[in-house]
Amino acid sequence: MSHPTGVEGQVAVVTGATRGMGRVIALELARRGTQVVTVARDPRRAEPLQQQIKAEVGADRFDVVPGDLSRRDDVLAAAHHIADRYQAVHLLVNNAGAHFPDRRLSVDSVEMHVALDYLAGFGLTALLHDVLVRGRARVVNVASDTLNDTRQVKLLGRPRPATLDLTHLTNLSAVNPKAGFKPFEAYARAKLLTVMAGYEAARRLQPHGVTVNSMHPGIVATDIIDDLVPPLLTPFKRLIRRTMLTPEQGANTALRLATDPQLTTTTGAYFVRDTEATTPPLTHDPAARQQLWDLSADHFNLDR
Ligand SMILES: NC(=O)c1ccc[n+]([C@@H]2O[C@H](COP(=O)([O-])OP(=O)(O)OC[C@H]3O[C@@H](n4cnc5c(N)ncnc54)[C@H](OP(=O)(O)O)[C@@H]3O)[C@@H](O)[C@H]2O)c1
Repeated sequence: MSHPTGVEGQVAVVTGATRGMGRVIALELARRGTQVVTVARDPRRAEPLQQQIKAEVGADRFDVVPGDLSRRDDVLAAAHHIADRYQAVHLLVNNAGAHFPDRRLSVDSVEMHVALDYLAGFGLTALLHDVLVRGRARVVNVASDTLNDTRQVKLLGRPRPATLDLTHLTNLSAVNPKAGFKPFEAYARAKLLTVMAGYEAARRLQPHGVTVNSMHPGIVATDIIDDLVPPLLTPFKRLIRRTMLTPEQGANTALRLATDPQLTTTTGAYFVRDTEATTPPLTHDPAARQQLWDLSADHFNLDR
């Protein structure tokens, strides 16, 4: 089956486009002739990008759907809105994400990293199924290589991959529990779930011509970094930011996965920047993947 390669005239859903890498991804896709749709919890924050796209490429290339992606009802409403308005979606970049410095619960009683960094992308991918199939879409999940190493300072010891207690996979509210909660590990675990469900989505969607890949963009100087710099290093934040990739450089990985003609049929992969990389064995465990899929589908009242 042939897949579309040029993005002109296509529809791309890019979450988290108000700032950081998402903004660059959305702008670049609009410049290449794509109709870009984002979901923003405060649509006013999308106005600067709306103005820029208007000035550069024309008024009607950017559509802002209101929604807080940490809330199940908002994910459902945004997906229905998009599916009603667009006959087909050709690209879905699940980019919105955050690191929370303490344990918080979403309105659905799910820990916030799980709600935003994992469930939002799962929900959009599953709920947009029909329009993605019509667009023979590429889905790109922005994960983080913290899933391969949860050490915040990597000077000592060996990489410590994210872990997942399988007994927690009976109830999403049990993932990232209060006991022993460590914010950075909770963030990494949510990204692990993203990759794990991404592999499963790739398997399920392959017969329909939809590809699903996950990626780590590198360490990029965006606002999320302010939460991730360990307190000890806070005085050096500015200096540290200068050693990082720019949002434009960071956006390249997602843009490549979304548009490179050479990756048209690549699916079920995980990339660290330009290089395909491995993820912890658990992400490939079919039983665990199925369990995660079922739980997540139940969360959105979807057929498993
Ligand atoms: N920067 C890095 O070094 C790095 C490394 C690995 C992975 N990542 C991942 O890359 C992705 C993009 O991050 P970034 O670095 O560009 O961070 P960023 O500048 O902080 O941007 C985060 C984006 O997510 C949106 N967002 C946050 N909470 C939301 C919610 N509840 N509902 C809807 N949108 C929400 C934000 O919108 P608002 O304007 O409304 O807050 C913003 O547009 C994230 O998934 C992050 O985990 C980043």
